Order: sequence, then C-alpha cells, then structure tokens
Amino acid sequence: MNRSKSQIWVDKYRPQSFNDIIGQKEFVSRIRAFVESKNMPHLLFAGTPGTGKTTTALVVAKELYGADKLQGNFLELNASDERGIDVIRNQIKEFAKMQSLAQVPYKIICLDEADSLTKEAQQALRRTMERYSATCRFILACNELSKIIDPIQSRCVIFKFKGLKDEDLKQLIQKIVTSEELTINDEAIQRLLDISKGDVRKLENTMQAASVLDKNLTLTTINEVTNAIEIKELDEMIQYTLNGEFKKAREMMIKLKSVYGLSALEILKEIYTAVINLDIDEKKIIKLVDKIGTVEFRIVEGSDEELQLEVLLAMFSSINLNLK
Ligand SMILES: Nc1ncnc2c1ncn2[C@@H]1O[C@H](COP(=O)(O)OP(=O)(O)OP(=O)(O)O)[C@@H](O)[C@H]1O
Ligand SMILES: [Mg+2]
Repeated sequence: MNRSKSQIWVDKYRPQSFNDIIGQKEFVSRIRAFVESKNMPHLLFAGTPGTGKTTTALVVAKELYGADKLQGNFLELNASDERGIDVIRNQIKEFAKMQSLAQVPYKIICLDEADSLTKEAQQALRRTMERYSATCRFILACNELSKIIDPIQSRCVIFKFKGLKDEDLKQLIQKIVTSEELTINDEAIQRLLDISKGDVRKLENTMQAASVLDKNLTLTTINEVTNAIEIKELDEMIQYTLNGEFKKAREMMIKLKSVYGLSALEILKEIYTAVINLDIDEKKIIKLVDKIGTVEFRIVEGSDEELQLEVLLAMFSSINLNLK
C-alpha cells in the first residue's frame, strides 16, 4: 500500500488550529479569547465522543506554546489509566516540577476521560488541581458531565460539546472526498450521516474503511464496513412487527431494502437479535426464532427474499405477543 495512504484519517484530518475546528463555533471563540489573553482558567470539556474535545485541548496547547514546544509544557493523561489516581498524581507532580521554557506562566495538563474516575479519585484530583493551580491549568475532558463531582465543576469553565450538524459534516465529507480522490453519491452521504450521528471520528473511520474496499463510496461499500446496522427504520420495523402492525412493518422493510440497500439476511439477523432479547415468555421466543430459521433457510435456498420477509412479518403479526 502507498505509504501516505496508510495514515489514519482521524489523525490526518485532526484540526491543527482553531480555524480548522468544525461546528462548536459559539465557544471556540471564547476559548480562543482565553488563549489570546494568556489568562486561562481550568477548562472542562463535556460531550459525546468524536466531537473535538481532545482536539480542542491540543489546539489550545499549540496556540499557547507553538506546535514544536509542547514537550515540557503540555501533559496529556488518560484518567481511565488502570494504574489509578496515584500514578496520575505522581505524573502531574513530576511534570509540575519541571522548569518551563515558554513565555506562558503556566503549563497545561489535559486529563481525558475524567468521568471514569471514582468520586474518591476525583476528590484526590481536586486537591491536586488546587496544589498546582499557580503553575498549571487543567483541561478535563469527559463524556458525562453529571459524573464529575460539583467541586471540580465549580473550579472549571465548562464547555458542552455537541454532536456535529449534518451541514458541517457534509462539508467535511466533501473535503475528504476531494483530498483522497474518492467519489461518493447522495445515498452514501446520507448513510454516512445516519451512521455517524454527529461523531466525526466515526465518520472518518467509516469513510476510510469503505475507501479501502473501493474509491467509489456507495451504500454497499459503506454497509459492508459498518458492523452494527444502526438505522432508525430498522428499529421501527421491528417494533411494528412485534406489535402486529403488518402493513407498516412491510413498508419499513421495503424501505430498508431499497433505500438502505440492506439484504434480507441482514434484516433477519437484526430481527433475530431483537427477538432473543425480548422480555416475554420463553416459549414464544422459541416459536419466533423457529420462524426466523425457516425463512432464513428458504432465502439461502434461493426463494424470493422480499416475499419471504413478508411471510415472516405476517407470521409474527399473527402471533399474539402481548407486549403491552
Ligand atoms: N469539531 C471537529 N472538527 C474537525 N474534526 C473533528 C472535530 N471533532 C472531532 N474531529 C475529528 O475526530 C477525531 C477525534 O476527535 P477528538 O479526539 O477530539 O474527539 P473527542 O471529543 O475527544 O472524543 P472522545 O469523547 O471519544 O474522547 C479528531 O482527530 C478529528 O479528526
Ligand atoms: Mg477525547
């Protein structure tokens, strides 16, 4: 494989400056103002995965010290480090002791996944933050703000990172398509947006995986690299099926096949997973699984896929599941 192509896209396309950060506009300017005044409080970045928390922390450090002078000024730690809070505190201690060569009067410690710390560990972290606050600023990142204890929250300026909007993601898709010399159609773009749900990491990883199969990104290539099928119509179809609403279930099934390009076997597999997780009488589950097996066999043997799925939906609808 060509060397330049073997780079991971999430690194290749990681924003290097505030201007590169997509979405999150409202507060990027506030963070930029802190950086420009060189007067920065502790920051707490909260929000869903792949929305730019770690990236923004890195950009802050690069803007403050210069990309080549991070060492000695910027320490990145992961709170989910299984060696525990004491190891983290020691690393902070060693780092805080080191002489800084930068013009900026403090160093930055970025602690990722802070919400994975227990309450006790967070109390310890809070004391550490206080002890070194003259020389260090903390940037904490977490997915769930509610898991961060109040005393830490109240010491930080909090920024809530949201999933990126479709328009923003579309621009990014276009940028990557151009730079990687790919082609893509509208269906595939929509599918990428549905899968990533605002998570840029997921978007870039999916695009990269699909592009290895084929530089022409289509529904098929994208579906092929998505392990879990995450489509809202699929959940709806299963719900209609189990509620005995045959017509609506059939409508969804047709949409899944024609719009999303799912195969009958993929749909069956999802129905199967939903069925075995149902909280109903085991005898009923066995009956349902038996029907799925029958239909799967017929499809593998070459029967008409759509017809067989309809047969299954009809059979399900006729069994009284008493779900409500
Ligand atoms: N706002 C954004 N603008 C541009 N690229 C982004 C943005 N957010 C994420 N990315 C891309 O996704 C990758 C992962 O982002 P990042 O590590 O910042 O996510 P995170 O919010 O820290 O996620 P997690 O909660 O999983 O730690 C980055 O390397 C970058 O390529
Ligand atoms: Mg992160």
